[in-house]
Amino acid sequence: MKIMEIEGGRELTGTIRISGAKNATVALIPAAILTDEEATICNIPEITDTEALCDILRLLNVDVKRASESVIINPQNMRNVEIKEEYSKKLRASYYFMGALLGKYKKVEMYFPGGCSIGARPIDLHLKGFEALGATVENEGNKYIVAAEELKGANIYLDIASVGATINIMLAAVRAKGKTVIDNAAKEPEIVSVATFLNNMGAKISGAGTSTIKIEGVKYLGKCFHEVIPDRIEAGTYAIIGALCGNPLKIDNIIPEHIDALLSKMEEMGVELDIGADYVTITKQDKYKATNIKTAVYPGFATDLQQPFTVLQTQATGKSKTTETIYENRFMHIPYLQELGANIEIKGQTATIVGPTKLVGCEVVATDLRAGAAMVAAGLTAEGKTTIHNVEHILRGYEQIVEKLTNVGAKIEIKEIE
Ligand code: EPZ
Repeated sequence: MKIMEIEGGRELTGTIRISGAKNATVALIPAAILTDEEATICNIPEITDTEALCDILRLLNVDVKRASESVIINPQNMRNVEIKEEYSKKLRASYYFMGALLGKYKKVEMYFPGGCSIGARPIDLHLKGFEALGATVENEGNKYIVAAEELKGANIYLDIASVGATINIMLAAVRAKGKTVIDNAAKEPEIVSVATFLNNMGAKISGAGTSTIKIEGVKYLGKCFHEVIPDRIEAGTYAIIGALCGNPLKIDNIIPEHIDALLSKMEEMGVELDIGADYVTITKQDKYKATNIKTAVYPGFATDLQQPFTVLQTQATGKSKTTETIYENRFMHIPYLQELGANIEIKGQTATIVGPTKLVGCEVVATDLRAGAAMVAAGLTAEGKTTIHNVEHILRGYEQIVEKLTNVGAKIEIKEIE
């Protein structure tokens, strides 16, 4: 087991370079098996979720070559075997193998995915989409068998603009016969990235990034090369850390539009931002104004940034509110922020934060990935030592977090404990 120790209260100066997006990468790797040739993906982040997906590729007898930040995936000798629970439960994104294998082989056998416990997180919309394309779904306990004689294009309306369901249906539909239309599709940049990747292989997808995606099925998908977009959630996390400790802190290699909602809220609070074409530089101010946020699907305020943002709200003067609308259980970081000294009350899906409060280091837990990011932001802000348990959650999504923060002056280390 690993713990992270942070000596807080230090100013952070310098540049943090943002890695490739986790939530794009974790869809691109399963999507790569759809090619009949070979796919190269570069700017892959070195995080444990990427490794877990490469392990699934190897289980399927896919040839995987890793070279620093790229991966070359060749599925020509692939076998469509069952994906066992020990593989699927390591992460949420294992569910993208459902759409990809169904799309390629018309059959997939796999277990329910894992991922952060931030709500019920059903996959009913994914399965309904597969059924609309002509598949049948058998479910026994945690195991799913999804199969079709033939996949045929269909009109699919998503009750919720789900990122996972949108991508999974796209994966299943690219090789289906005829035209599929997904209405109320999710619009996140990760969806555009997957559609571009598939189009580079020869797929015919239009409308990605809008709420209507059209897919004309094709028979053959060829060789392709793709670069992963910068991680907007990693960028947002470090931007928040910049507002808490930056003097100044430059967040480099980003697409600023992807974090527009966050940057607008930060400006409203009085955070000083210098926004360039592919960077934002932030200098901590002595006083911030309280502000309210409500999470929403893209381009709204990202639920994944809600947890680290609460830390910034603890440093603002007055009463701030955070309302979580995407997940039922995404306030697990709050009790630990309270232990660090924050004044926060939760009622239903809204947390009310009264600040500014001094944070003082103590022992806390990363209950999930972004709760872990919130603990890191709080630990860097707090006086004294913060020890974070369950660091494995953080390493699932933040590449070289210790190195990146150490380089800008943080005192932070990961230790192995019994
Ligand atoms: C993706 O999860 C991300 N994960 C999440 O990031 C992110 O929080 C989320 O999108 C929202 O932006 C990956 O990309 C691997 P959804 P996903 O389907 O696709 C409900 C992180 O920290 N729903 O858009 O699983 C669902 O329960 C992670 O990096 C159904 O009811 O999210 C949720 O309330 C955490 N039925 C809402 O929709 C379904 O079939 C949105 O979920 C599917 C979803």
